[in-house]
Amino acid sequence: QAAQNEYHPDTNPKGIVNLGTAVNCLMEEELEERLNRDDVFKFQPEKNQHYFIFGGLEVTRRALSEFFGRHLSNGKLLPINELVIMNGVSSCLDSLAFGLVDEGEVIITPTPVYGRIFTDLQDRAYADVQPLHLLPKEYSGTERDFELRPKDLEKRIQELTAEGKRVKAFILLNPQNPLGDICSKEQIMGLLTVCAKHKIHAIVDEIYALSMMDKSQFTSVLSIEHLPDPNRTHFLWGMSKDFGLAGFRFGVIHTRNEELLRYLAVVSMYQATPSIIQEAVATLLNDEAWCDNFFLPTSQRRLTLSYERTVHQLTAAGMTVHQSKAGFYVWINITPFMNQQTITEELEVFEELMAAGVYTIPGSTLHCKVPGWVRIIFTVSENNLDVGLKRFISVLQSRKTKNLKVA
Ligand SMILES: Cc1ncc(COP(=O)(O)O)c(C=O)c1O
Repeated sequence: QAAQNEYHPDTNPKGIVNLGTAVNCLMEEELEERLNRDDVFKFQPEKNQHYFIFGGLEVTRRALSEFFGRHLSNGKLLPINELVIMNGVSSCLDSLAFGLVDEGEVIITPTPVYGRIFTDLQDRAYADVQPLHLLPKEYSGTERDFELRPKDLEKRIQELTAEGKRVKAFILLNPQNPLGDICSKEQIMGLLTVCAKHKIHAIVDEIYALSMMDKSQFTSVLSIEHLPDPNRTHFLWGMSKDFGLAGFRFGVIHTRNEELLRYLAVVSMYQATPSIIQEAVATLLNDEAWCDNFFLPTSQRRLTLSYERTVHQLTAAGMTVHQSKAGFYVWINITPFMNQQTITEELEVFEELMAAGVYTIPGSTLHCKVPGWVRIIFTVSENNLDVGLKRFISVLQSRKTKNLKVA
């Protein structure tokens, strides 16, 4: 619905403002300019016409290794034979699940979570994806809302094992989607230590690693020297978020696990990124002046400004938001605008918002255990953001007025 009736200030002002889909529109012109230069998308028959090593051109894996060295792995260059390229992180998740888990075996994910984590791991691999529910602190007794503690992962593994299930993997989104939280090094180590103790695989999806509001706090799993179980720790990243190039269908897995690498080399045939795109990615990542000195810092500055603009408007309207440190989204508490804290009412709010012309993601569809939360995306144009927020605030405030009248 949101895609078919998209808002446009001039041509469709009554259309739906999309604050639901996690795309980044803040750097579109700059990307267009860079990608239209002569050094990208140049068809060369000897390179692009025939079959190639689908799991990744050498030039691209080398570019990734150097790029990660500059931004995530603390200078360490990853051996390129430990990198496998696929057409998007979704494909990487699907392939990992298929390779690591037999039908019905469990992968644990903290929730609320980007909803496709469930589908990507279930659709083809038939993994049994089980939530580790993170809760607001009044329900969980944790210090912070939606806090992810290693001891809770330990407890969840024990519970599921006691139910007779076989827990095979844990997936960590860092930065988290939809919370925008970042794990500290201690937290990552704590979680990985629990995984190692139970001999379960840890899949660490860092697709938002460079979409930071506060860069200094992020620790990539690639930078950690002594991993508790390096053979069962797998890292993911892609071009969809930090570079806003979801259309490229480009994702990468880093693993040291040789058996897994052999399997990935086989299945990469089914989900390869075309060589011409792989080369374009290498060109962008290798252009340090553009990528490191211009694109990423500018993108992060714009992200921060847009985030602050959003939080300012929401809090000025009396709303409570979970503080994001990274990502494209704000996680908003709408319980003060609800009569009953139920999924039914949360979905009613969603329908009211759609009817008012703004598409958002209700927390229940992101597997949030406690109803009354909504995710909105702030990486849209300034005009769309302002119009979308105005509609969002107006719907919720009118609910409050109605509720007060009823009371
Ligand atoms: C945490 C996370 N992982 C993976 C993906 C999918 O990425 P891709 O476009 O590379 O398939 C998304 C997209 O929203 C995401 O938020």
